[in-house]
Amino acid sequence: MTAQLNPRGDVAVLVPAAGAGVRLGPGGPKALRRIGGEPLLVHAVRRIATAPSVHTIVVAAPPGDEDAVRALLKPVAELTVVAGGATRQESVAAALAAVPTGPEIVLVHDAARALTPTALVESVAEAVRGGEDAVIPVLPVVDTVKEVSAAGVVLGTVDRSALRAVQTPQGFRRAVLAAAHAAAVDPLTDDAGLVEKQGVRVACVPGSEYALKITRPFDLALAEHLLGAVPLAGHH
Ligand code: C5P
Repeated sequence: MTAQLNPRGDVAVLVPAAGAGVRLGPGGPKALRRIGGEPLLVHAVRRIATAPSVHTIVVAAPPGDEDAVRALLKPVAELTVVAGGATRQESVAAALAAVPTGPEIVLVHDAARALTPTALVESVAEAVRGGEDAVIPVLPVVDTVKEVSAAGVVLGTVDRSALRAVQTPQGFRRAVLAAAHAAAVDPLTDDAGLVEKQGVRVACVPGSEYALKITRPFDLALAEHLLGAVPLAGHH
C-alpha cells in the first residue's frame, strides 16, 4: 500500500542513496540487499513514511537510475527522486534543493538503517521542533575502546564514558542545514559534522538498537531475524 504522507507535517526526510554501492543491476548494491524479500531502501522509506510528522521524502538516486528507483518506491510512498551528485554531500544538497516550501525540519537518513523505528524519526524531529538547530541520535559505546598504532600495538585506552556511537536520522532546522551545505568544504564529513564546523550546537537524543546500519553479513542476518519484531510504528 502506498503510504500517504502528512500534508500538514513539518518534516522533510532526505535519503542519499546515490553511491556506487546502490547502482541497480548486478553486484549486490548495499541499499538493495534484501531482508524479508524487500530491499533495505524500501524498508527504510516505508518506516519513514509511517512517521506522522513527515511531509516530504526525497531520495537521491544514482544519476541515470532515477526512473528505476522511482518505480521501486512508487508502491511504498509518494516521494521525490532526484539525481545524486559525485559525493554524498552533493547528493544531500541535491535532495535538499528539491524540498518544497513548507517543512522547516530536515532529517538526513541512511537507507542502510532500514529498521529505524518511526518513534526515532519523531524524537529527532521533536527535538528540532523544541528549539535545537541540529540533533543526532546516539548510543553509548559498550565495548572498551583503545587507540592502536598502525603496527597493532595499544597506545592507550579511551575514556568511553564521553563517547557515543552516532546514528541517523540526523535532524536540522532547514536553514541551518542549507547554510552548512552552502559552505561545505569537506566531502567526507557527515551532515552534523558540517553543521558543527559552522559553530552550531549539535544536541543528542537517545538512539535505538534497531537503527543499526545494516552493512555486514552479520547485520543482514540480524536484521532478517529482527524484522518481524519491529512494528512499523514501534517504540525504541
Ligand atoms: O559510500 P558511502 O558508504 O560513504 O555512502 C554513504 C551513503 O551516501 C550511501 O547511502 C550512499 O548511497 C550515499 N551516497 C550518495 N551519493 C554519492 C555517494 C554516496 O548519495 N555520490
